[in-house]
Amino acid sequence: MQPIQLFDAASSTYTYLLFDENTRDALIIDPVDDQVDRDLAVLRQYGLTLRWTVETHAHADHITSAAQLAEHAGARTAAPAGCGITTAAKQLAHGDVLQFGKESLKALHTPGHTAGSMSYVWREHVFTGDTLLINGCGRTDFQSGSASALYDSITQVLFALPDTTTVWPGHDYQGRTHSTIAAEKAGNSRIAGKSREEFIAIMDALNLPKPKRIDEAVPANLSSGIRHDAHGQPQPGAGAAVAPPSVQAAEGYAGDIAPELACQWWQSGQAVLVDVRTDAEREWVGFVPDAVPVAWKQWPGMAMNPAFDQDLKAAVPAGKKVLLLCRSGVRSIAAARRATELGLEAYNILEGFEGNPDRSAHRGNQGGWRKRGLPWRQN
Ligand SMILES: [Fe+2]
Repeated sequence: MQPIQLFDAASSTYTYLLFDENTRDALIIDPVDDQVDRDLAVLRQYGLTLRWTVETHAHADHITSAAQLAEHAGARTAAPAGCGITTAAKQLAHGDVLQFGKESLKALHTPGHTAGSMSYVWREHVFTGDTLLINGCGRTDFQSGSASALYDSITQVLFALPDTTTVWPGHDYQGRTHSTIAAEKAGNSRIAGKSREEFIAIMDALNLPKPKRIDEAVPANLSSGIRHDAHGQPQPGAGAAVAPPSVQAAEGYAGDIAPELACQWWQSGQAVLVDVRTDAEREWVGFVPDAVPVAWKQWPGMAMNPAFDQDLKAAVPAGKKVLLLCRSGVRSIAAARRATELGLEAYNILEGFEGNPDRSAHRGNQGGWRKRGLPWRQN
């Protein structure tokens, strides 16, 4: 069995999708935010249920789609415990195993590119992230990198795997897709046959430019790539102290709107408020009285609501705007894009009902319709 290898050309990043052929439970390694629509389409095409998103480390060159996939596909997020990705639901330690159907993925701590970096073993395959690349390795000159630690990780952890193990790297810049442990042991120009001192000297002499997106990507990846409303601006700390600007242009729908202004538009009758969360969320987390419930997806499994188009059109009279509310702004953006395709003037309500997760992955502390004291009830 082979993994499905997916490529993001902008960052030369490989993403891997593994699944159980019988149960169709799946796991994705290093998904990229710009590719979330492609990845959701691949999941649909293969009939898969995504159980886990897994990171090899906190990337400096792209932003993960982990939080988006959690929202769209109902996956749980996992990341190496040493990477500071505090929003990930599962903090992986060396030797931990993630199950998907009857398949399992084993975490190996392989520090060096970053202190927390991990590689993952599935059957006769190893996913090495930026620890071991084809005829290369990840850089060690920033983000807690250490050439000495990388030397040990490659020579003692990865090279201890069977020679026939297929190596699937986190990147390749020359179109190569995979290698083997035997080939890297024999021919990797950075490390094959090199002493620790020789390897450290090679790494010290690389003098690589700073990655273009590091200042944006690392902070975003430390919170699983969750979109911080809006347009990548981190929110002020806990609480609802600062309201975002009222309406901002968006791609594919009319705009992102601040919760207070959305509430005014709704209460003055210029707009219909549509809650696209699942029935379960409205029932248990809380609901907005008189908002129209039209689920985008339903829990469990987060299957698309086949009646969405029809129910949305029925909910919005001609000439009215529609305001879309979800948990934190992932599903409501997808729904706003769809509403626009259906001919509606659609707005995404920033922060959603519960707001973004905080450092402990707790929602409800950082903005959101409920935190801001807008109308809601709980059964
Ligand atoms: Fe990296």
